[in-house]
Amino acid sequence: MGKHQNNRSDFPDFSRRNLLKLAGAAAALGPLGLLVPERAFASGGRMLVLYYSKTGNTRELARYIQKTTNADIAEISPVTPYPSDYNETVRLSRLELLTGRRNPIQPLNVQLQQYDSIFLGTPLWWGTLAVPVLQFLTQHSLEGKRVLPFSTNAGGNRDKIFDDLLLLCPKSDVRSPLALRAGDLKNAQSEVNAWLRG
Ligand SMILES: Cc1cc2nc3c(=O)[nH]c(=O)nc-3n(C[C@H](O)[C@H](O)[C@H](O)COP(=O)(O)O)c2cc1C
Repeated sequence: MGKHQNNRSDFPDFSRRNLLKLAGAAAALGPLGLLVPERAFASGGRMLVLYYSKTGNTRELARYIQKTTNADIAEISPVTPYPSDYNETVRLSRLELLTGRRNPIQPLNVQLQQYDSIFLGTPLWWGTLAVPVLQFLTQHSLEGKRVLPFSTNAGGNRDKIFDDLLLLCPKSDVRSPLALRAGDLKNAQSEVNAWLRG
C-alpha cells in the first residue's frame, strides 16, 4: 500500500511537551474505539491482534482492528510494567535497547500456533518497535505466519518498524505496515479500513 515512509531529514519531535499535546488532542476528540466497525473484512485464516501499549493509543487501534476483523486479541505485557513517569520510561527503554537487558514478557493467554495471521501492534519507540515487542519476538517465533504490523507514534517519521520486522521475522510473511500519529487516531477510520482491505 506504499504507506511506509522513511524520511531521514525530518527529526521526530517526541518531546514530553509535544507528546502531552498530542495525547490531549486525541483525548479531546474521543476514542477511535467508539466508532462502529464498517464490516467484517476478508479472513486471513485464523487471526490474532497482538499488541503492546503503554499509554493506550495502540490499544485503541488494536481494539478497533479486533472489532472490525472479528479476530482474537491478546496483549503483550512486561512482567514489570514501565514507570508511569515518561522520562523514566524513555531512560529505561534506551538502556534496554543499548544493553539488550530487558524485562521478560508475561506468558500470553493465547496459543500462537493456532493463528495464521497476526496483527502486531506497537508504539513507535526510538524509531522502532517498543522494547516489550522486541522482547516478545525474542521469546516467540512467528515463523510461517502472516504478520501485519500497525503502530502509533507522536509524529516522528523515522519509522524503522517494517525494516526491523523483516530482520527479526525472516521466515514470516511481513505485510505493509499501518503507522498512525496518536493525534490522528480519531479520524483514521477510513485509512485503517483501507489498510485492512489491502
Ligand atoms: C520510550 C518512548 C520512545 C518514543 N519514541 C518515539 C519516536 O521515536 N518517535 C515518535 O514519533 N514517537 C515516539 N514515542 C511516542 C509514542 O510512539 C506515542 O506516544 C505512542 O502513540 C504511544 O503509544 P501507546 O499509547 O500505545 O503506548 C515514544 C514514546 C516513548 C514512551
